[in-house]
Amino acid sequence: MAWRFRFATPRICLSLPARSVRELQRLVHAYEGRVDLLEVRLDWLGDWTIEDLEFLRDRPVLWTFRPVRQGGEFAGTDSERVGVLRQIGRRRLGQWVDIEFDVWPPLITELRSYFKVLLSYHQYDGRLPSWPGLRDLFRIKPHDAVKIALRLDRWADIVRFLDIVEACQAEGLNGVWVVMGPRGTWLRVLMPWFGGLWTYASPGVAVQTTAEGQVAVEELWQVYRYPEMAPDHRIYGILGDPVVHSVSPYIHNRLFQEAGLAAHYVPFAVDDLAAFWPLVRFLPVGGLSVTIPHKIDVLRYLDDVDEAARAIGAVNTVIHREDAWVGANTDWVGFWRPLVRRFGARPWRALIVGAGGAAHAVAYALRRAGCPFWVTNRTHEKAEALARRFGGAAVPWDAVDPTVFDLLVHTTPLGMVPHTDQGPPIPDAWLAGKIVYDLVYNPPETRLLRQARAAGAQAVLSGLPMLAEQAAEQFRLWTLQTVRPDDVTTLAQTHLERQSEMFNLFD
Ligand SMILES: NC(=O)c1ccc[n+]([C@@H]2O[C@H](COP(=O)([O-])OP(=O)(O)OC[C@H]3O[C@@H](n4cnc5c(N)ncnc54)[C@H](OP(=O)(O)O)[C@@H]3O)[C@@H](O)[C@H]2O)c1
Repeated sequence: MAWRFRFATPRICLSLPARSVRELQRLVHAYEGRVDLLEVRLDWLGDWTIEDLEFLRDRPVLWTFRPVRQGGEFAGTDSERVGVLRQIGRRRLGQWVDIEFDVWPPLITELRSYFKVLLSYHQYDGRLPSWPGLRDLFRIKPHDAVKIALRLDRWADIVRFLDIVEACQAEGLNGVWVVMGPRGTWLRVLMPWFGGLWTYASPGVAVQTTAEGQVAVEELWQVYRYPEMAPDHRIYGILGDPVVHSVSPYIHNRLFQEAGLAAHYVPFAVDDLAAFWPLVRFLPVGGLSVTIPHKIDVLRYLDDVDEAARAIGAVNTVIHREDAWVGANTDWVGFWRPLVRRFGARPWRALIVGAGGAAHAVAYALRRAGCPFWVTNRTHEKAEALARRFGGAAVPWDAVDPTVFDLLVHTTPLGMVPHTDQGPPIPDAWLAGKIVYDLVYNPPETRLLRQARAAGAQAVLSGLPMLAEQAAEQFRLWTLQTVRPDDVTTLAQTHLERQSEMFNLFD
C-alpha cells in the first residue's frame, strides 16, 4: 500500500470540557502558550453571556456548538445555534467554527462571513462512510476545512479510513482526521504524518487511559514530544491488544529523549495484524515492541528472527534494519539478568508456575544456563509441551514437591492490576526458604510477594526489573546504545506510581 500524505506542521487543539465560564478561564490560562487552538464547547458551557467570552479576544478559538443529534448537548434548532454564533461572529471573537455536515448550506455560508468553517462529519456507530458519498457532501457544502471523526474498532476499517483521508488530500481538502476509541490513539499522536491541521487533546495529565483514546496536552509535550515532530523522525511503538495501560511509551520515549534521538514511540492497539502491517511499511518505523496477542503471529511478517526468538517461538521485538524486518526476543534476557545481578549465577533448580509465552522465555533462559526446572500449569498439556520443548519436567499442581526447587517463578497474570487482591493459590510450603520471582510488574509489590515474605521466603523479586531489562535490551537492539537497567526501573516505577495515583483519583 503506497499511501501519499503530506506532512503537516504539528499543531495542538485543546478541547475544553468546561461547564462554567470560570472553569473555561482557568483552563485557558493554564494552557497558555502550549496549544495552537482552543476548542470551546458552547453546548457544554452553562450560564454564559457574550461578554463572558470577551477574554478570548485575540486568542485562537474554534467554536463548537454541537446539537444532540450529532452527539452534543444543544437541544435547540439550527437557526438558534447560528443566531448565537452570529452574535459571537459580529464581535469578531474566534477564528474557526465547527459546523456539522447536515446543516442547511445557507446557514453555513452565513457563518463563513465571520469564521473559517470546519465542516464536520461524525460517526459513532463503527460504520465507515463511502468516499463518493463524502466527496459529494464536501463538494456541496461550503467549508474551509473538513473534520472526519469516526468511532472505529477494527483495523480493517481504519486502513480504509486512511484511504479516505488520502482521497481527501488528493481533492485538495485540508482537514482533521480522528479515529475515536482506543484504537485511534496512534493517529492522534502521529497526526503530522497524515497531514492533519491539528490534533485534538484534552487537559489533564494522563488521559491516554480514557476509552475515547484522546491524549492529554501534557502527554503530547512531555511523553511524545509532539511539537518537535518532523518528517525525517523515526517511529517506534508497542503492538498489542490492549495496550492502553502499557508503560512502554513512557519508558521508550524518555530513553529516546535522553539519548537525543529524533524518535517517537506510540501505542498501536491492533486487532488484525494483516490489516495493520501496511501501515508499518508506510511509516518510518524503526522498530516495534510486540506483546499479547501478536508475539507469535508477527513471525510471518518478518524476514529473519534471532536464535532466542526462534527457540522460544515468540517475538517481542521487531527491528527494522535497512530493508529487513528482524524479530528478536528480549524477555529471556529480561528475566535472567536481574536474577543474576541480584543473586549471582547460581545453579538454580526452578519451579515455573504457568506455561504461556513468558514461561517459554523463562524456560529458555534456564535451559541456556543448564538449570533444571519443573513446570506446573492450569492446563497440564501446555506444561508438558513446554517441558518437552526445553527439557524440563511437567508436574501436576498436586504433585509439586517443594523440596526439589530453590527458585519459584510465577508467570501467570494473577495479581495484576486491576485484580491486585488475587494471587495464584500457591501454598506457603512452596515459598518458605525459596527465592520467589513474580513476573507481574504492575503492581511491583504483588499479593504473592507479600505472601512469600510472610511465609519466610529467602528473597523476593518483582517483575519490574525484568520489564526494565527487556526494554533496555530492546533499546540497545534499535539504537545500539546502552542504558542502565536500574535507571529504566526507576522510570517505570515512577510512571506506575503516577498511574496508580490517577486511578485512585478517578475511583
Ligand atoms: N515483567 C515482565 O517484563 C513480563 C514480561 C512478560 C510477561 N509478564 C507477566 O507474565 C504474565 C503472563 O504473560 P504471558 O505472555 O505468559 O501470557 P500467556 O501466554 O497468556 O500465558 C498465561 C499463563 O497463565 C496461565 N493463567 C492465566 N490465567 C490463569 C488463571 N486464572 N489461573 C491459573 N492460570 C492462569 C495460563 O494458563 P493456561 O495455559 O491454562 O491458559 C498460562 O499458562 C503477564 O500477565 C505479565 O504479568 C511480565
